[in-house]
Amino acid sequence: MVNSCRKLNCNIYIGFYCSAIILPLICICSQFSQPTIDQFTKDPGAFPVATNGELFPWRELRLPTVVIPLHYDLFIHPNLTSLDFVASEKIEVLVRDATQFIILHSNGLEIMNATLQSEEDLRYRKPGKKLTVLSYPAHQQIALMVPEKLRADLRYSVAIDFQAKLADGFEGFYKSTYRTLGGETRTIAVTDFEPTEARMAFPCFDEPLFKANFSIKIRRESRHIALSNMPKIKTVEVDGGLLEDHFGTTVKMSTYLVAYIVCDFNSVSGTASSGVKVSVYASPDKWSQTHYALEASLKLLDFYEKYFDIQYPLPKLDLVAIPDFASGAMENWGLITYRETSLLFDPKTSSTSDKLWITEVIAHELAHQWFGNLVTMEWWNDIWLNEGFATYMELISVNATYPELQFDDDFMNTCFEVIKKDSLNSSHPISNQAETPTQIQEMFDAVSYKKGACILNMLKDFLSEGKFKTGIIHYLKKFSYRNAKNDDLWNSLSNLTFLGENVEIKEMMTTWTLQKGIPLVVVKQEGRSLRLRQERFLNGVFREDPEWGPLQERYLWHIPLTYATSSSNEIHKHFLKSKTDTLDLPETTSWVKFNVDSNGYYIVHYEGHGWDQLITLLNQNHTLLRPKDRIGLIHDAFQLVSAGRLTLDKALDLTRYLQRETSIPALLKGLEYLELFYHTIDRRNISDITENLKHYILQYFKPVIDMQSWSDEGSVWDRMLRSVLLKLACYLNHTPCIQKATELFSQWVESSGKLNISADVLKIVYSVGAQTTAGWNYLLEQYGLSLSAAEKNKILYALSTSKHQEKLMKLIELGMEGKVIKTQDLAALLHAIARNPKGQQLAWNFVKENWTHLLKKFDLGSFALRMIIFGTTSHFSSKDELQEVKLFFESLKDQGVDLEIFQIVLETISKNIRWLEKNLSTLRNWLLISI
Ligand code: BES
Ligand code: ZN
Repeated sequence: MVNSCRKLNCNIYIGFYCSAIILPLICICSQFSQPTIDQFTKDPGAFPVATNGELFPWRELRLPTVVIPLHYDLFIHPNLTSLDFVASEKIEVLVRDATQFIILHSNGLEIMNATLQSEEDLRYRKPGKKLTVLSYPAHQQIALMVPEKLRADLRYSVAIDFQAKLADGFEGFYKSTYRTLGGETRTIAVTDFEPTEARMAFPCFDEPLFKANFSIKIRRESRHIALSNMPKIKTVEVDGGLLEDHFGTTVKMSTYLVAYIVCDFNSVSGTASSGVKVSVYASPDKWSQTHYALEASLKLLDFYEKYFDIQYPLPKLDLVAIPDFASGAMENWGLITYRETSLLFDPKTSSTSDKLWITEVIAHELAHQWFGNLVTMEWWNDIWLNEGFATYMELISVNATYPELQFDDDFMNTCFEVIKKDSLNSSHPISNQAETPTQIQEMFDAVSYKKGACILNMLKDFLSEGKFKTGIIHYLKKFSYRNAKNDDLWNSLSNLTFLGENVEIKEMMTTWTLQKGIPLVVVKQEGRSLRLRQERFLNGVFREDPEWGPLQERYLWHIPLTYATSSSNEIHKHFLKSKTDTLDLPETTSWVKFNVDSNGYYIVHYEGHGWDQLITLLNQNHTLLRPKDRIGLIHDAFQLVSAGRLTLDKALDLTRYLQRETSIPALLKGLEYLELFYHTIDRRNISDITENLKHYILQYFKPVIDMQSWSDEGSVWDRMLRSVLLKLACYLNHTPCIQKATELFSQWVESSGKLNISADVLKIVYSVGAQTTAGWNYLLEQYGLSLSAAEKNKILYALSTSKHQEKLMKLIELGMEGKVIKTQDLAALLHAIARNPKGQQLAWNFVKENWTHLLKKFDLGSFALRMIIFGTTSHFSSKDELQEVKLFFESLKDQGVDLEIFQIVLETISKNIRWLEKNLSTLRNWLLISI
């Protein structure tokens, strides 16, 4: 019922209805039946009570669609000394159906006055009629009650005066502070609205579908500058020596993309090929770190304008490094805000992986200027249309603009990371229902970002890059300045693809977006035939478990398979739409490898002799398989171990060829698993295996460890390998590594922090240095002084590796205080401490004991809180620990916490327990025969 209503409404409006009766081109459809004013009078008991005791006329979380915003005139005057702001706005609205009230979002704002003018009032300059304002904080809504019914198809202007304190956290219009070189603390004011926090800064229709134009004015002191989405048109002087900046009117956009900043930052600027002015802003002492970001954003903007064949529509684009920032970056149209580590590149202290991250984040946020800003999802349930696409576009754009970064080789890790979560039953479909602000925040997760990107990459590989690109450009052009949903995307793609061929893109893709989880393709070779079967892949649940069967029910994917065989180099394709299928090969082959280049979102299991054939192949001549196929095999093998389908010794045997591996990403993948096992066993204090595994790693990788220099020469992957290998070698107490790092650390201290050490090994040198009390104290001092966020991150990590619990506790205290260690870094700090075997219990106890304090700092659905919960518990691997975590989560039930979000933690711990039970003795024995 609900669905058919949605489809109908939208198709009619977009198709011809709107343009025919000259309504704005907006597709408004709400999932809810909307209470009418009659219902309100007939059944008042069904309505909530406003703060003043009167009935609030609206009971839904989503706004009614009878009144829609067209234009906002917004005036804001923040005071950076008293840390508050006064503001006013005029919203021009269109009434689509007669109504007695206007519902707006507003959260924590003090509304001083609200008036209404009709078009006629405006024409004859009649004063506004005063409106009664009712407030219903549980839904973050206010109702403006009008004296006379508003009439359909007429426009009105609503004027509201309001004020509030600058927020304390990272949302709405909040304050941020930074320290200057001279030790002075300065304050700036900045916005961050996505998904539902614009309502903390101004009363508005705070849903993505309500697109409007915004004209913004900001009053400020002369020592500051103001920035907003659009360029400044003029500055006027007002009373008290203050200045008022007037910004150009924006294009039509959603509220969550509005942004403004008052600060004293400096910038560097350049001009893109199309004439767009690009500027990168940072606090004055960090100006020298802005140059790489400017170069990258200019290149990437040029790339996107050409690739999409759609101009970036604003005259300017600013990128600003904000000292206190909750996430990595935010794509506000024309005014992108970043955490300092996501934008500032310091040639002395930023490593290769820092550079890759900065490039990736800029590429991601710039992609949003099209995917997200120009075309926006209708509702947050489809946030993947923003985030999945922006993540996918990182791959396309960084490959094209910075081929030397070899970003392509890292993309598979994006998919591998989400597979870990998506193969648990607690995962969710890419498109998932979300209504409350907490549920909406929770949608910003690996599934929306990474699985979204991976299935788009799979579809591109299936359709060919050209066809896929044509389809998405079609989608962007068709829905520009409007909103879209999944089906709109699939329709844009299928219009253009496989004419004559029987592939229904929508039918295929909904098996990936509406179904959670990842398929396992089981292959069995029988002579020239390949028997294929698909299942749902479950990590930590074995086929012999009673729950395995029920968890399989009704799962079916349309999988675009690719494969290569020993007898042909060609990439073969097969579309698997059923549970089972058979493929007949032209001749018998000694091996077959599915999922070429790991472009598909599925895991492959080779039954019978399949794995043995592949292990033999890797040992005999691994170069017959492409590097990404070798990585895929390592990944799949260890995943299958966790699912109880492959024995651990078989997977470990598969890694034996790595001594001859020349592909660094493949080498790193193998190493990653060995390291993971080491950490797991080390945490459990199983000393015989820990010692043997350490011995094995150091012995097995000795030639390549010894080859490493402590310099910054080589390709991106040479440099990444150096960082990973030396970090591991020092962690495992490899004497030459410790000696070299100790020597460099002493020299660095002697030079008062001036010595140039390769940024790729900086973290390792600091971590070794942090093991003495003097070194640790010196690092903490440097942490307070450093002006490089990249360096500070490395120092903080090093400090968190101390074996002394009192030092770790001191870090946590500093993080809670939020001065030396900023609150924005607390989640990563707790995560780092929990990874340290000496800190794991400490971090978890702290979280339990300080839960209410943490909830005051971070929202329940926020990325930070999720990272704190997951980061301090997901490594547990005993039944006692599981029980303890469960009890704690259950104790939160009384506080009204939705336990859904903890499910992933409980499943992860159960999976760890299972892994150890099943594989510990195999690992022990395998090591005994291997060292
Ligand atoms: N739109 C998001 C920012 C965001 C995140 C808003 C969570 C609301 C909730 C932005 O585009 C983003 O995705 N940022 C990423 C960085 C990106 C490179 C993965 C982030 O903040 O981690
Ligand atoms: Zn994003």
